[in-house]
Amino acid sequence: MKVLVVGGGGREHALAWALAQSPKVQKVFVAPGNGGTALDGRLQNVNITETQALLAWAATEKIAITVVGPEQPLAAGMVDAFRAKGMRIFGPTQAAAQLESSKAFSKAFMQRHGIPTAAYQSFTDAGLAHAYVDAQGAPIVVKADGLAAGKGVVVAMTADQAHAAIDFMLEGNALGVVHNGEARVVIEAFLQGEEASFIVMCDGKNVTALATSQDHKRLLDGDAGPNTGGMGAYSPAPVVTPQVHARAMREVILPTIKGMEKDGIPYTGFLYAGLMIDAQGGVKTLEFNCRMGDPETQPIVMRLKNDWFDLLMAATSGTLDQVELQWDRRVALGVVMAAHGYPMSPRKGDAITGLPPVSVQGGEDAVVFHAGTQASAEGTITSGGRVLCVTVLAESVKAAQQRVYEIAQGIAFDGAQYRRDIGWRAVRH
Ligand code: AMP
Ligand code: GLY
Repeated sequence: MKVLVVGGGGREHALAWALAQSPKVQKVFVAPGNGGTALDGRLQNVNITETQALLAWAATEKIAITVVGPEQPLAAGMVDAFRAKGMRIFGPTQAAAQLESSKAFSKAFMQRHGIPTAAYQSFTDAGLAHAYVDAQGAPIVVKADGLAAGKGVVVAMTADQAHAAIDFMLEGNALGVVHNGEARVVIEAFLQGEEASFIVMCDGKNVTALATSQDHKRLLDGDAGPNTGGMGAYSPAPVVTPQVHARAMREVILPTIKGMEKDGIPYTGFLYAGLMIDAQGGVKTLEFNCRMGDPETQPIVMRLKNDWFDLLMAATSGTLDQVELQWDRRVALGVVMAAHGYPMSPRKGDAITGLPPVSVQGGEDAVVFHAGTQASAEGTITSGGRVLCVTVLAESVKAAQQRVYEIAQGIAFDGAQYRRDIGWRAVRH
């Protein structure tokens, strides 16, 4: 069978790597892919990103199943387009992807269906938004409505920061994010606790939870510095105890799937709930993503023993209830190596040395997943902010840290930056 992974980041390299392990898969195409997917003989990059062109190509190639990695093509309706032509694809429809693409949609949805989340109001009028901040006080959180590639959330510790965020997102809309033609902000209560990523697969009716994980959003050690797309992740996340897991399923995931069905927008695809877990084990939803996490995917796929082709076929046949997921009991931990200048202005074109050969990457307990890389005549070079994610399986978090940093130290490019403390919360637990 031929399969197609849409996207070109670390998450998509990991999904393609996992699909390539299936004996039923003869070729995994990745559109557009990256320098890592270009190196692996079982994978093949396809330089097409536009939906209709990709659909025509997939039909000609008789692609058995397509899985979409990033949110943009989902929000743009790629799943709807493929289905309309009878092509099998795993992901949410454009309408269902609003759980991620519109904060106002997802907050109103959660309120309507009694799903725990921070109290909020949404505004298009800057004056009313400023008045709301004055009435509520700080800390308070201001979020742009629409896809903002991680730049649309300001956790304001002072009212001044919140007012500045409103001006940035609404008044002149310097951020430039609009949804349905309008700039809008959601202003919500500041929540305290520990965050975890809770990702499930859904076939429209049945839900199966993937292993839990935890991201590290700040650039620097000790969770300091600016927000990023994620600097490292590990699985499982000890903060998600069996009790917390049961509450997340009962209070967040199942009501969401049922609510979407009730609203006439059945949910298919990966659903990622960003959870805030308080000291009492109470769970609140910070955000929904309509896709897998990056870099959470990299450790998660290394722990999942099931055949990914079979899994995606079940997820697109309404038979996820017949699937039992088998997890490697070990810890998986991934460290992101980012480019010089990330996240503000990542530099491209730096040569990468010390990359392990492709053969080491297949079916082993250590894999260097590529993200912002590109094959060039001189070898692999950097081409984006998050360049690599070195991911390992080990008996403990400490052992995983030791191994992952040994591998990372052997890889070099000018200006490489990575955190040295990925997994610190798990060690504390
Ligand atoms: P989001 O894109 O909504 O997940 O927000 C990005 C990050 O901002 C989250 O991962 C949290 O670290 C932080 N954040 C978002 N909403 C809140 C909130 N209500 N209280 C505290 N922190 C938040
Ligand atoms: N790592 C966070 C995300 O994928 O949204």
